[in-house]
Amino acid sequence: MRIGILFGGRSGEHEVSLRSARSVLQAIDREKYSVSLIGITKNGRWIGGENPLAALEDGDEAIERCPDTILLIDPVDNSLIQISRNSNDETIYINKTEDLDVIFPVLHGSFGEDGAVQGLFELADIPYVGSGLVGSSVGMDKGVFKSVMCSAGLPVLPSMTVNRSEYRSNTAIMVDRIIRKLTLPVFIKPANLGSSVGITKANNIGELKSGLDEASKWDRRIVIEEGVNAREIEVSVLGNDDPQVSIAGEVVPQRDFYDYDAKYVSDDSELLIPAPISPDQLVRIQEMAIAAYKAVDCSGMARVDFLLDKSSGKVWINELNTIPGFTKISMYPKLWQASGIEYPELIDKLIELALERKEQRDATERSFEVLH
Ligand SMILES: Nc1ncnc2c1ncn2[C@@H]1O[C@H](COP(=O)(O)OP(=O)(O)O)[C@@H](O)[C@H]1O
Ligand SMILES: [Mg+2]
Repeated sequence: MRIGILFGGRSGEHEVSLRSARSVLQAIDREKYSVSLIGITKNGRWIGGENPLAALEDGDEAIERCPDTILLIDPVDNSLIQISRNSNDETIYINKTEDLDVIFPVLHGSFGEDGAVQGLFELADIPYVGSGLVGSSVGMDKGVFKSVMCSAGLPVLPSMTVNRSEYRSNTAIMVDRIIRKLTLPVFIKPANLGSSVGITKANNIGELKSGLDEASKWDRRIVIEEGVNAREIEVSVLGNDDPQVSIAGEVVPQRDFYDYDAKYVSDDSELLIPAPISPDQLVRIQEMAIAAYKAVDCSGMARVDFLLDKSSGKVWINELNTIPGFTKISMYPKLWQASGIEYPELIDKLIELALERKEQRDATERSFEVLH
């Protein structure tokens, strides 16, 4: 079976994706699978060749030397097409390469985790790891995600979603509306980013305004949500229609909140596996994770993150990540390892789930005869 591993990408999580892909590449069973590597540069160019992963790690010069590589949008032909140019860009050579059986998008954030690239796989009719369009885009959008959780009867913190155009043209009114509806402190988040980029905490009106200005840079829509003094508990989910859930883990950030710096720069946050919570709390969190996974129509995998109030013990769903960090030391695979599924086996299962999902899609009628 030939697996296409896709990594890099145009999001702020490009580097995280390279690290995740490096781990997948080291662990994937080469007796079972042959692997094609496809890199996506920060500008969105797809590259192949000998080793696009090393090229993206090395930088511009190495990237330049890689041939463009694309996936044909052809439901009967799942091959990669390599396009190379001669030195003065006059002639291009097109070379058809391997036929892919499954694609594993090891991409985080915008364009990779939000349904954009999943749309391409659907058009090409190729099996792929992870959620489809709806699960990916709803999991990505913090505003829509909260609405879906509310209608599924799952607990989320009180929040509001505002358009930046509305905020910019009616700043005073919008700030007033937020203050009347929500209790400070609040967290202000761009609706569609990850890795804590653009997220701030506001304890007063001045910080609220600057937080709204900051989040407005990153998205057209902004989510404002009541802040709680909470522990951060996460569980991993794996499966399609009948998903399994792992034991829980806890992230203990060494600063005010789990911001970009805490996640990737200082690296001083602690991961506790298993999370020190009561058996009752664990069961409840696991049930909610499965319910959230189904409500959003996920497939393959997701990591579901919770906030557990330090004083009252109340639990809220914070977010759901459809392509969670996937390095060997990331929470998602570590929770599975602690639940009895080793990293290489996890990759096998994800590939099986991708094939199963494709079979289900193929068994679905798409056209019908119009009766006159
Ligand atoms: N309502 C909240 N109350 C307390 N802490 C929060 C809240 N929302 C977010 N945080 C903190 O901010 C971090 C990032 O927010 P999150 O919604 O998980 O965004 P991202 O998708 O960037 O991870 C969380 O891990 C947590 O530390
Ligand atoms: Mg988060």
